[in-house]
Amino acid sequence: MQNSWWRETVVYQIYPRSFFDSNGDGIGDLDGIIAKLDHLADLGVGTIWFSPFYASPQRDVGYDICDYRTVAPEYGDLATVDRLIQAVHARGMKVVMDMVMNHTSDQHPWFVESRSSRDNPKRDWYVWHDGRKPGGKAPPNNWNAMIGGSGWHYDAPTDQWFWTQFLPFQPDLNYRNPEVQAEMLGTLRFWLDRGVDGFRLDIVNALFEDAEFRDNPFAWRLIPSDDDPRMLFQGSDRTLNLPETLAFMKELRRVVDGYPGDRFLVGEVNAPIEMAQAHCCDGHGLNLVFLFRSLKAALKPATIRELVSEYDRLFPDPLIPTWVFGNHDRARRISRLGGDMARARLNAAWQLTARGVPFLYYGEEVGMVQRPIPARDSQDALVLRMQWVPQFVYDAIRSLMGESINRDECRTPMQWDGTATAGFCAQGVKPWLPLPDDLGGRTVADQAGNPDSLLECYRRFLHARRENPALHRGDLALLDAAETGKDVVGWRRTADGQTVVVLLNATNRAHTLRNPAPGGTLVVSTDGRRTDAAAPELVLAPWEGLVVRTAG
Ligand code: NOJ
Repeated sequence: MQNSWWRETVVYQIYPRSFFDSNGDGIGDLDGIIAKLDHLADLGVGTIWFSPFYASPQRDVGYDICDYRTVAPEYGDLATVDRLIQAVHARGMKVVMDMVMNHTSDQHPWFVESRSSRDNPKRDWYVWHDGRKPGGKAPPNNWNAMIGGSGWHYDAPTDQWFWTQFLPFQPDLNYRNPEVQAEMLGTLRFWLDRGVDGFRLDIVNALFEDAEFRDNPFAWRLIPSDDDPRMLFQGSDRTLNLPETLAFMKELRRVVDGYPGDRFLVGEVNAPIEMAQAHCCDGHGLNLVFLFRSLKAALKPATIRELVSEYDRLFPDPLIPTWVFGNHDRARRISRLGGDMARARLNAAWQLTARGVPFLYYGEEVGMVQRPIPARDSQDALVLRMQWVPQFVYDAIRSLMGESINRDECRTPMQWDGTATAGFCAQGVKPWLPLPDDLGGRTVADQAGNPDSLLECYRRFLHARRENPALHRGDLALLDAAETGKDVVGWRRTADGQTVVVLLNATNRAHTLRNPAPGGTLVVSTDGRRTDAAAPELVLAPWEGLVVRTAG
């Protein structure tokens, strides 16, 4: 149990629309992914998570599903998925599918039926409620959606309101209905039977709402943070993290545990870390939960030390934390680091050597940056619903907070080479989202084979992690700042009789320190030219991170 593969893996997220276009329509597809799998196998990741490629109107790029058991035609079909799963497995990697259990598209036949009349058999598959009196023309209660604003939508023909935790075209399924539970658990089985190794569960802490539809409480908070979804002066006690939702995590776990090969679940739980952890139900619920505080964490010694220590403390064995620095919703990490490759290398060293399961986002390995896209050209549904927000607000958020509300900016095509289409699609084809004006060498072709590149740094660390048990399954003990000096963060990891010491110089100055592992062997460094780390005194270059295996 403790050594299950998913505890030791590194996950790489592919956004299918943006990875590789094999058929000349400017949209990535499953055959395109198959064609590029060797890149991932060589890189050294263990697991691939695919953002949704199910049938969908694509108003939220696949997070609005209208058939959970078929594939959107622009991506392929079920036979292509079977080939994809086989091709991933043939390379020794695992497959994680994205599963959007909380809501469907409003085009899903279930919802079309559900809204057709109050006595339709599917009516109760979604969350419907009468409006408040008098006249029922006010929403049933004060519940806001996760993205702000009331999550209730009036349906005139049936004179009731339906609830959406996310966008208005994503009606929430009603998990109080046993038929819904059975159908969705059956959907998991459908894909498990086809050989998938795990699921990433979209906003899974939102499955149940208060049975009595009581108001959410007031909260002293305007803007949400990465680990606190309260916003617009409203708490989420009646709409998120309900005891029923936590209990259902165990049901989900029972389904995956019913299959051989240690299948697993990772949940998107926007909540304080302790609450996210509670969704693991002491090892009987979600196997993993995303932890998002790292997204914006400063690349500073004290911050790294604090976060590594906190994650480790809150996720003691058999639990294990996750390390997330980017995804399809959030500004790319390197853009928060000023686009700087040296910092990105150190960040990779942090992510791939701390205790936990790292989640990489496609393109991170070559330093792909945010591609500014004016709101008027955006395809992201979050932006489309805020057309009234003037462009300068987007620009201010970007420059003041390093954040982007336009999710298109982190979803641009994978940069394979330096050609006009970055090798994402054939020359002359227009990619679905624009590429940066200048790729600046942030491509696979430009960096492959160059020991100074970010790509080769990722490759070295991924392979070192795979080859050294202390790195992929060791426990972790932070080194005292007195031992490393305040500019360097370090930890010791031990497993199977092997001990390694990780040292990260999280500053732009060289730093000399007494080697905590004198006479040891260099395992890996962000500096691709370093050959040893045995001397009693070590000099770490600015932003250098390295791993030494202790002697004996
Ligand atoms: C979270 C996903 O990561 C995001 O991309 C999506 O829009 C929402 N959930 C709704 O499914």
